[in-house]
Amino acid sequence: MTIWHINGGNTLHGSVAVQGAKNAVLPIMAASVLAPCETELRNVPELRDVNTTLRILRHLGCTAERGGDAVYIDSRGMSRNDIPHSLMRELRSSVIFLGAILARCGEARLSMPGGCELGPRPVDLHLEALRALGADVRERGGDIVCRAEGALTGTRIVLPFPSVGATENVMLAACAAEGETVVCNAAREPEIVDLQRYLQNLGAAITGAGTATITVGGFRPRRAVEHRILSDRIAAATLLCACAATGGEMELTDAHPAHFLTVLDSLSEAGCDIMTTSSSVRLRSTGRLIAPKPVVTRPYPGFPTDAQPPLMAACLKARGTTVFTENIFTNRYRHAEEFRRLGANVSIEGRVAYISGVEKLTGAPLTASDLRAGAAMLVAALSAEGHTELLDDDYICRGYDGFDRRLAALGADIRCETQAKGGPV
Ligand code: EPZ
Repeated sequence: MTIWHINGGNTLHGSVAVQGAKNAVLPIMAASVLAPCETELRNVPELRDVNTTLRILRHLGCTAERGGDAVYIDSRGMSRNDIPHSLMRELRSSVIFLGAILARCGEARLSMPGGCELGPRPVDLHLEALRALGADVRERGGDIVCRAEGALTGTRIVLPFPSVGATENVMLAACAAEGETVVCNAAREPEIVDLQRYLQNLGAAITGAGTATITVGGFRPRRAVEHRILSDRIAAATLLCACAATGGEMELTDAHPAHFLTVLDSLSEAGCDIMTTSSSVRLRSTGRLIAPKPVVTRPYPGFPTDAQPPLMAACLKARGTTVFTENIFTNRYRHAEEFRRLGANVSIEGRVAYISGVEKLTGAPLTASDLRAGAAMLVAALSAEGHTELLDDDYICRGYDGFDRRLAALGADIRCETQAKGGPV
């Protein structure tokens, strides 16, 4: 358990580098078991989810070590094809290992990933796509058991929804398929393009990532690959929302503004001055924000669902009413309900949240319900008067590397203390 202490009211000023992308490094670490090879990843953020994935790789028999911002994986010693419940429950997105283990071993057994704070997180699209490649996929006693009698067979797969995880799982499994696989209605997120770049360096004939059609046509694995992880667009968006909320001027370096243009548009509509280069963003926020145009979350390149909570936090004091529509997850407004404790004016009707800007927020005890909600609560607390104590069951450290350190360096009055579970009573 981590307890965050924030004394709001400070404006933020300065320059900060954006961390490597959580949602790029996790699938790439899974992809490293596709073939017996040595992988060196750089710009890897220090995150709880990365550490969990290192433990999964070691469980599978790989060598997996971190050194500074690098991770070194040697998958030549891989000796298992299963991920137990104890590890899957820590990181449900480890379902991305399914395609990679199946491709490498011809069989994969994973504990069924459960839902999470965002609602039910089904994997039906993943399993249907693997079946289309010829895998025998059964759900048995809480496990997913996948088998490929003989080789998988390349085919045309049309995803009913551009699921990020399902797209990634098919990309990995298709590397082992005989013949060409074409994935239609594929997710187009930048993290998928980064995964493709890694796979190409590993020896896969794969093209099309970033568009709705990805083609995989063969795999001649190399023995070693180096890769620098993409910059994290959601961590960048969260930092910018913090500066928009508090006022001040922030420069982000090692950023890719082209990957979060929709967020920049909303911040600009809210009254922030924004200047970008290909690898940096400068945001200046002076005076009271104004409510941006309605925010509707959609698959990429639409507005990213993961940036909805922090942008909402930045809009709590904006003049007017900001309307959010959450189309990706069924339960992604728990942060909105928590904002009321700070004095925010929030009303929720199904997938739509209405934020009527208030003149002032006042610090209060808060509880983080998930990763992005927790970060959004920090953003809101920074712009509230007085002290906020945020209880965080180690959600924020899953996706944000040194968030307290980065915000403090920009002038925030923030610190966090870690309590052992079952801490002092
Ligand atoms: C990835 O999750 C990200 N996680 C999420 O980020 C992100 O919010 C999401 O994509 C959408 O962009 C990682 O990359 C590790 P989906 P994923 O499959 O792959 C439904 C964060 O905070 N669906 O695109 O699980 C699903 O229920 C996290 O960094 C099915 O119905 O997302 C959801 O409503 C949160 N069946 C929608 O599709 C399936 O088989 C989007 O899911 C798969 C998904």
